Order: sequence, then structure tokens, then C-alpha cells
Amino acid sequence: MFRIDSSPFLPRSLQSRGVFDPHHAHPASSESPMTAPPSNAPPLLSSSLHSLPLLARGKVRDNYAVGDDRMLMIATDRISAFDVVLGEPIPGKGELLTQMAMFWFAHLGHIVPNHLTGDDPQSVVQPDEREQVRGRAMLVKRLKPLPIEAVVRGYLAGSGWKEYQQSQSVCGVALPAGLKNASRLPQPIFTPATKAEMGDHDENIDFDQAVALIGADLAARVRDISIQLYETAAAIALKKGVIIADTKFEFGLDTDGTLTLMDEVLTPDSSRYWPVEGYAEGINPPSYDKQFVRDWLEQATVDGQPWGKRPPAPAMPPDVISKTAAKYREAFQRLSA
Ligand SMILES: Nc1ncnc2c1ncn2[C@@H]1O[C@H](COP(=O)(O)OP(=O)(O)OP(=O)(O)O)[C@@H](O)[C@H]1O
Ligand SMILES: [Mg+2]
Repeated sequence: MFRIDSSPFLPRSLQSRGVFDPHHAHPASSESPMTAPPSNAPPLLSSSLHSLPLLARGKVRDNYAVGDDRMLMIATDRISAFDVVLGEPIPGKGELLTQMAMFWFAHLGHIVPNHLTGDDPQSVVQPDEREQVRGRAMLVKRLKPLPIEAVVRGYLAGSGWKEYQQSQSVCGVALPAGLKNASRLPQPIFTPATKAEMGDHDENIDFDQAVALIGADLAARVRDISIQLYETAAAIALKKGVIIADTKFEFGLDTDGTLTLMDEVLTPDSSRYWPVEGYAEGINPPSYDKQFVRDWLEQATVDGQPWGKRPPAPAMPPDVISKTAAKYREAFQRLSA
């Protein structure tokens, strides 16, 4: 996340213009999450509302203030990989992510309060701005974010697998010997991370460091709630043929100090989604996330040199864009089936 006055990590194209063209507006779609297919609205790389003050642009979301206590979060079609935002949008992505987050909020509301206000995002923008908001926005309570990311892992993957090979533990949580890449853990573990500034990488921390940041009581509540959210969601997803290997939640405090689930929840951007049929221990299971983009970036060259994983990213070829868009659609379709 970065403030609007310091945006060195966004591609220049994104700082100055969006792909959105209101003249190609399409009748949409998604007033009821997960029931309607995503609209064919034109891709939105960067929103530009004139009627609300822009608070910040994250890697994917543009946040606008709605009075003092609410916030309009617009999920654009931006995609990031290796913490760098690419210059091309993934058509449909913002709307799919928003619909998936709404699906999970609806299924998890009994566990912890969330940031949704229930108000219609279109009600706080001008008529000429509605197309930038339709289906892809959430109108939320503006919270005081906790400075940690609440990561829960049900399987060993990514940085967790790397750490396990060195120490047989992940973020200070000791694990049994003999686990393989992608092994299911005996029980889900809470492995918090710091919230990095835009362009930096989040850093894994152990539970004591989380306690130092937010206090013992809050850290314990965040841990217990996060594990309960993960277990509930993972069971629902598994019935639909999706393994949620791990996920990251964010929490904030409202004006009364109530712990509240915020941000996106359990999307393929914040979680590892694995189709059950591709799952096996000892391999990197193919996932519903950005693997096409990452694989392509790993071999991309800039001026004859491998790309250094620093902005700007090389331009994505059309087939990488369309394959990635298809993956997000597939994840949505599985969950909504
Ligand atoms: N209800 C809320 N109140 C205040 N801030 C929120 C709320 N919900 C989400 N946020 C913040 O809004 C931003 C969403 O933008 P986005 O997801 O694009 O950001 P990012 O944090 O840069 O990327 P990443 O998801 O990889 O950390 C995040 O900084 C998140 O912490
Ligand atoms: Mg985010």
C-alpha cells in the first residue's frame, strides 16, 4: 500500500491513465455475488473518481474516502507478481475477486464481524462513475488496520516449505519431521507477517513478535479467529474441489475497538488455491493464482538480461493475460458451483 503522493512502484502508465473507457460500458452483472457470471465490462487498470477523495492505491485496490468513517474499495484489474504491479490489466479480475470476497464474508459472518456496511457502492458515486464501481467495489467501514498480516497455513508451501527444510519449523512453530512439499499439516498454523510498504516484501515473524506489535490479548484473538476462519473456509472449498493451502487475513479496529475482519478475504490473490485433482505431495501443485505470470516473468528478459524483479515489469504477452484471466474465472466458477 502506498500513499498517493509516493508512487514509485506503479508502472508509469498506471499513474497517469486507466484502460477504463466509460463509452464502452456494458450492462452489468453482479449485484448478487456468486450468482451472476462476471460482466464483460472493459478492463480497469486504474480508477479515476472525481467525486470522492482518493486515499491510496494499493497493488490491486484503489481506496476512496466516503465521509470520515467509510471507504470505497475498488478492486481494479491490476495484477502483481513478486510484489511488482504489472502494466497490463487482467480482464474480469477485479470483479471476480470482489465476488469471491463477498461469498466468503457471507459464509464467515458468524465467526467475526467484518468491514462491510451493506450500503450499495453505487450510491456514493456520481452516475458517470458507476461503471468503474459496478460489481468490483465494496463500501466498507474505515478501520484502524492492525500492523500484521494474519497468515494461516494448512499445507506446507512457498516460504513455509523453504523454512521447514532449514529448521523443521515455520515462523517459530515446530512441525513434525518427514513432511514434504505441499504436505497437509497436522493442524493449521498461524504464521503472522509484517505489513510491508508498497514495493517491499512482507516479512514472516513469530508469534512473540506479533505480541510485541499488537499486544498479547489481541494477538491471541487474531490467531484463534484466523484459524477458525481458515478451517471453516477450507472445509467449504474442499467440497467444491478446491484446496485452500494457506491464506492471509487482515484485521482492523473500529471506533469502539471491535476487532473486525477487513480487506479481501480468501481470494486467489490472498490465498493459495489448489484444484484437488492436481494435488500431490512432494510437488508444487498447480494453483489458481498467478503461476502463468510468475513462470513467464522468471524467464522474461529486459535488454537481453533476466528481469531483476524490480519495477517496471516487462509487458505481458496476450496469451499470458488470457490464460491468467481464465484461471481466475475457473476459481470463481468452482466456488460458485
Ligand atoms: N476496512 C478497511 N479499513 C482500512 N483499510 C483497509 C480496509 N480494508 C482494507 N484496507 C487496506 O486497503 C488496502 C487494499 O489495497 P490492496 O489490497 O491493493 O493493497 P496492498 O496491501 O498494497 O497489497 P497486498 O494485498 O499484497 O498487501 C490495504 O492496504 C488494506 O490494508
Ligand atoms: Mg491487499
